[in-house]
Amino acid sequence: MCGIVGYVGIGKVGSVLFDSVKKLEYRGYDSVGIATLSEGKIELRKDNGKIDDVDKKIHLGDVKGNLGIAHVRWATHGRPNKINSHPHTNNDDTIAIVHNGIIENYEELKTNLISKGYIFKSETDSEVIAHLLEKFINDGFDFQDSMIEMVKSLDGSYAIGAIYNNNPDEVLAIKNESPLVVGLSEDGNFIASDVPAFLKHTKKVIFPQDKELIILKKDKVIVKDLNGKILDKNIQTIEWNEKMAQKEGYNHFMLKEINQQPNVVVNTLKAKKDIENIVSNLNDINKIYFVACGTSYHAALTGKYLLEVFTNIKTDVIYSSEFKYFTNTLDENTLTIFVSQSGETADTLSAIKMSKVSRTLAIVNILGSSITREADNVIYTKAGPEIGVAATKTYLSQLVSIYLLVTYLSKNKNNKFYHEMISQIEKVPRYINDLLSDEDKIKEIAHKYKDTKEFFFLGRGFIYPTALEGALKLKEITYIHAEGYPSGELKHGPLALIDENVAVVVLAPNENSKSISNLDSYKDTINNMEEVKSRAAKIILLTSHENGKYNNVDDLFTMDNQVDELISPIVYVVPLQLLSYYISIYKGLDPDKPRNLAKCVTVK
Ligand code: AGP
Repeated sequence: MCGIVGYVGIGKVGSVLFDSVKKLEYRGYDSVGIATLSEGKIELRKDNGKIDDVDKKIHLGDVKGNLGIAHVRWATHGRPNKINSHPHTNNDDTIAIVHNGIIENYEELKTNLISKGYIFKSETDSEVIAHLLEKFINDGFDFQDSMIEMVKSLDGSYAIGAIYNNNPDEVLAIKNESPLVVGLSEDGNFIASDVPAFLKHTKKVIFPQDKELIILKKDKVIVKDLNGKILDKNIQTIEWNEKMAQKEGYNHFMLKEINQQPNVVVNTLKAKKDIENIVSNLNDINKIYFVACGTSYHAALTGKYLLEVFTNIKTDVIYSSEFKYFTNTLDENTLTIFVSQSGETADTLSAIKMSKVSRTLAIVNILGSSITREADNVIYTKAGPEIGVAATKTYLSQLVSIYLLVTYLSKNKNNKFYHEMISQIEKVPRYINDLLSDEDKIKEIAHKYKDTKEFFFLGRGFIYPTALEGALKLKEITYIHAEGYPSGELKHGPLALIDENVAVVVLAPNENSKSISNLDSYKDTINNMEEVKSRAAKIILLTSHENGKYNNVDDLFTMDNQVDELISPIVYVVPLQLLSYYISIYKGLDPDKPRNLAKCVTVK
């Protein structure tokens, strides 16, 4: 959802900015641009297209100067073309700005500025920022105070970086409800939408609060409030390293991230004690709401199934964008759990702000992100940076965190679940490693079905949310229409869509008679599979059942029979991720950068 960078330092500014903004390409790849201050003048290079393509044309990294700003765009206002690309400048090109977010009152501001003679070049909401800054400078404010006055006129979300040719030593930045982090290095200082932009240079960061003015200089960073008072900010050290944000020999980040999952599970399990501590203060909770979007919603939905089966806590799951219709029943005995990889999703962030009457818990991957600052408690999923736009390893880490949470919530109520869960979850890395070594089978299936136009994913009970996630992954990165359904629901309407051109992926985990989760789903699922088979659909069966009824399937992928229903959501999603990945590859697409999407959705 757009990425911004700013840098002042002793490094070669063009190449530092180019390298940094490239690390944020997952946030938007409609257009890219860099503006620097060179010998008292703004030098601007920008165009629409992916970073490498634009660089071939206009050599972004060669731009000269001593400081600068850069931007990758995910278009909201105005088509992706050169004029709408950032940075935007004022009329005489003395000020340049980059912006991530949406200026909600831009039309009113624009009309006002036009009436005063300011001339707009682009269709973007962002351009008003450059002209507003000029207006306040013309009114007699210095650059820093102009930034302060300017943000007082803005409604909406923003992370802004700005440079001005009469202010040759500083990049200024400010945020409101959009991500922005400051990086402090020996070679200079950074602002960026996300840490990977400057991990090569430093792990030392400051997380500014909303509406704090950041003054980036070569040798120091000053943070002020809107009254001009200098603030004492906490410097934190990030655990990530540069390698974590690189492909490390894989063709795509998505494939690397799928393969990292056994280690991610081990890492996420390290949060056991923290989760146990959080739960020890939740004894009086009688109702839980999960709130999330997309893949995170599917992890949350798995949590609802677990809580409903293994505790007596009534649980609901609500899309973040729909949450405002469900706030009347919140009270101090309600736990509202916000699940978000980025911790910056605008819909989820606005939902957490509406839920303060309840107790709030965030399950988030990104340290210091906005949602973590709003929550009473935070569980960090510890998956490391995820660069591929399609969530994979962070989904698994959310699931493991949720399983642990349910485990501790059920400890007193259902001791058997607690012990079984802990012992099963510890075996998950081995199960995933085994099926990753069976990747060729998935490749074969992906190749066979790459031209199929329609997919259904079926599962019942705990594995139903995994069916939704399998369908979402396929839609996102292959552009094939796919739907996830509870297996038993298909006959209530969607069965009418089934014919020989449709592929149906059936998820049928093993039932384990010794397991407390023995809900007898397998037989029912297989019966539902027969219903679609007799309507001529192509069946791809994923199962861990050793005596499965396999004669009627077109393709079969089997897993360790120890993977029973209880633990199946954390394991079965991996072959589904691989299936989508390889179909995307066989279709000649880029799974890391699906069309129209961006990693972090910071607009409502
Ligand atoms: C996942 O593959 C998607 N890119 C998307 O659905 C994502 O899960 C959703 O936008 C929520 O993001 P969050 O977890 O960062 O809040």
